[in-house]
Amino acid sequence: MVDLTRNGRLLFGGDYNPEQWPEEIWLEDIRLMKQAKVTTATLGIFSWSSLEPREGVYAFEWLDRAIDLLWANDISVVLATPTASPPPWFTKAHPEAMPVTRAGVRLVHGSRDTYNPAALAYREAARRITRAIGDRYGHHPALQGWHVHNEYGSVSYGPAVDEAFRRWLRERYIDLAALNRAWYTAFWSQGYGDWDEILAPQQTQYLSNPAHELDFKRFSAELLLDCYREQIAILRETSPDVPLTTNFILSTWLNYNHWELAAASDFVSIDFYLDADGVEGAAHAAFGADQARSFAQGRPWLLMEQAANATVKPGRIVAKPRGEILRTTAQHIAYGSQGALFFQWRAGLGGSEAFHSTMVPHVGEDSRVFREVVELGAFIDQLGDLSLEPAGRVNGRRVAIVWDIDSWWATESSSLPSDRFNFQAAVRRVHRALWFLGIGVDFVRPQDDLSGYSLLLIPSQLVATPEQATNVRRFVADGGEAVVWYFSGTFDANLQIIPGGYSGMFAETLGIRVEELLPLADGESVQLDNGAIGTVWSESVQLRGAEPWAHYTTGFARGGPAVTHNAVGSGHAYYVSTELDDAALTALLVMVLAEAGVEPDARGAGGGLEAVRRRAGDHSYLFLINHGNEDRWSTAFGTDLLTGSTYEGSVLVVAGAILVIRESINN
Ligand code: GAL
Repeated sequence: MVDLTRNGRLLFGGDYNPEQWPEEIWLEDIRLMKQAKVTTATLGIFSWSSLEPREGVYAFEWLDRAIDLLWANDISVVLATPTASPPPWFTKAHPEAMPVTRAGVRLVHGSRDTYNPAALAYREAARRITRAIGDRYGHHPALQGWHVHNEYGSVSYGPAVDEAFRRWLRERYIDLAALNRAWYTAFWSQGYGDWDEILAPQQTQYLSNPAHELDFKRFSAELLLDCYREQIAILRETSPDVPLTTNFILSTWLNYNHWELAAASDFVSIDFYLDADGVEGAAHAAFGADQARSFAQGRPWLLMEQAANATVKPGRIVAKPRGEILRTTAQHIAYGSQGALFFQWRAGLGGSEAFHSTMVPHVGEDSRVFREVVELGAFIDQLGDLSLEPAGRVNGRRVAIVWDIDSWWATESSSLPSDRFNFQAAVRRVHRALWFLGIGVDFVRPQDDLSGYSLLLIPSQLVATPEQATNVRRFVADGGEAVVWYFSGTFDANLQIIPGGYSGMFAETLGIRVEELLPLADGESVQLDNGAIGTVWSESVQLRGAEPWAHYTTGFARGGPAVTHNAVGSGHAYYVSTELDDAALTALLVMVLAEAGVEPDARGAGGGLEAVRRRAGDHSYLFLINHGNEDRWSTAFGTDLLTGSTYEGSVLVVAGAILVIRESINN
C-alpha cells in the first residue's frame, strides 16, 4: 500500500505554474507557501510547449530550478506528464493526429485537450515526453507522485479512430455475424458484410444505433485507458517506487470507466468543483468523495483539485461564502482523502482561466481568500494523526448504491422511451436523500461482492447481465434489503430489450411483470395512495409474487401498483416504478434503513450535520461538520484535535463548525 502522506502530514497545496512567472515571483511564492503550510505543489500539467519547445528539443532547466527550490523549502512535488495539451509544433507536424469532432471537423491547437488518442504520432510523442520527464525526475527526492495526463476524457472520430475501433470490435466479437446480432443491424439496413464498412458513430441522418453508440463509448474509454497504461509502463521503468495517478473530473464527465482507470492507479485522485453552495454543495461534495473512495477500492485517494473561491457557474463566476472552503476540505478528508490540493496556487494574469479562483488571488496575500487558505493550511496541519492510515479508511459502510458505467452511458441514447431521466441524476438523487438522513454509502458495481452490505440501492440500472441479476438475487435471499428503481434491468449488455416484461433481468427477484412503460411529460405528475407524488415516469406493473406497497390513484396506471415489495429468502426487494417526491423517497429510505438496521455514524446526524468516522491506526476520528445555519446537538466521546476540548456525551456543533474528535472508545 502506498503512503501518500509526507512525514506524517496530509497533503496541502495546488497546481503550480512557475513557467508563467518571472523567477523573483517564485521566491514570493515560496514565502507564501510556507506561510500557508503548503506541503505539495503539482507541476507541469500543461507545460509541454515549455518543456519541449521543438520536437525532440527539451528545456528542462526552468523545471529543475523550480523543483529544487521547492524541495529546498521542504515542499514536495507531484509531477505531471503534460500530454493533455500538445504544443503548436505538434499540430503543424502531425495534422492527422488532431481530434475530429462527431460532425467531422478537425480541430487545431489554441485551447487544450487537442489530440486524437488513437493517432500513432500523438501516442509516440506522448511516450517520448513521458520518458524524458521520467528519466530526468524519476529519482528526484522531491518527487512524491506522478500525475499522469490531466482529466482523461477526450473523444475523437476520424480515420485513425475508425481503424482502432474496428480492431477493438474484431477482438470483442471475432465473428462479424456476432456483431450484426449484437447491434441488431437487421433494423434500417445496417447489416455489415465486411469489417471495413464499420465506422465510429458519427453524425447520422436521424437516430443512430444505440448498441453501436454504447460499444463506441466502451471503446473510447478503453482507448484512454491504453494511453494511460502506456505512460504507466514508462514511469514504472524510470521510477518503480513513485506512486502514480490520473485525476478524474467528477462527477459529470462522461467518457470514463472510473473503475478501470482507478484499478490501474496506485492512488485515485479527483478534481471536484461544487455545483451548489451551503448544504446542497456539501451533499454534492459527499457524492464525489464517496465515489472517489469507492473507485479506489482500498487504495488511497486524494482531492487533487478544488477551487479556493469562485468557480464558473453558467454565465458568471460566483464567490464561495466565507468558511465554506474549510468545511468542504474537512469533508473530503473525513471521507478519506489524504489531503487537499487546489487548482491553482497563483492566479494567472492572462489566458482563458484568468478568472478561475486560486489560493493566491490577483490582489495578492492581503485578501480574504489567502487568509482562508492560511487558516486551512493550519487546520490540515493539525490533522497529522490521520496520516497514520495509508488508505484513508472510513468506518465500514452497510449501504451500497450501484454505479454502473454501461447504464450511465446507455442513458445517453436518443432511442429511449423518455429523455427526462438519466442515470447520473438518478444515482445522485438517492445518494443525496441518504446523505440528508446522515447515512454514509459505498458505490459498487452490480457484480461486486455484496456480502458486507445490508441495503443495496439500484437506481435505474438500465443494463444488466444475468450474472449481475443472480448476484442481486443472492444478496436479497441471504437477508439483504434491496430497492430497485424503474427501468432497471430492461436491457442486456448489447442494449437489447429482455422480452416478457420490462425490468426483466430483475423481475424474478422483484416478483413483478412490467407490462407498459408510461413516462410522464414535463410538469405532469401522478398521485399514489400513500400521499406520494410521482413524476418523470410511471408504469403498468403486475404482481407476480410481490405485494403492493403503494398504488397509483391517478394517471394511465391508476389502480395499479406503483411501489412493490417481495420477500426472497430472508430478505426483501422493493420496486419503485416512478420518481417519488423528496418526502416520499425519504420515507421509503427511512423504512428500508430501519429494516436493514442501519443508523448514522453519530446521533443527530443528517439534514446538514455531517458525521463521518474515519479510521487511523488503532483509532477512529469522528468528524462532525455543521453545514447548516442552525446549531445542532450530537454525541461524542473523546478529544477534539482542533481545540483540545474533551467530550463525554452530548456535544453542541454550532452552525458552520467542524469538530474532529479522536475517540476514546474505538467505534
Ligand atoms: C480542471 C482542470 C484545471 C482547470 C480547472 C478550472 O478541470 O484540470 O486545469 O482548468 O478545471 O476550474
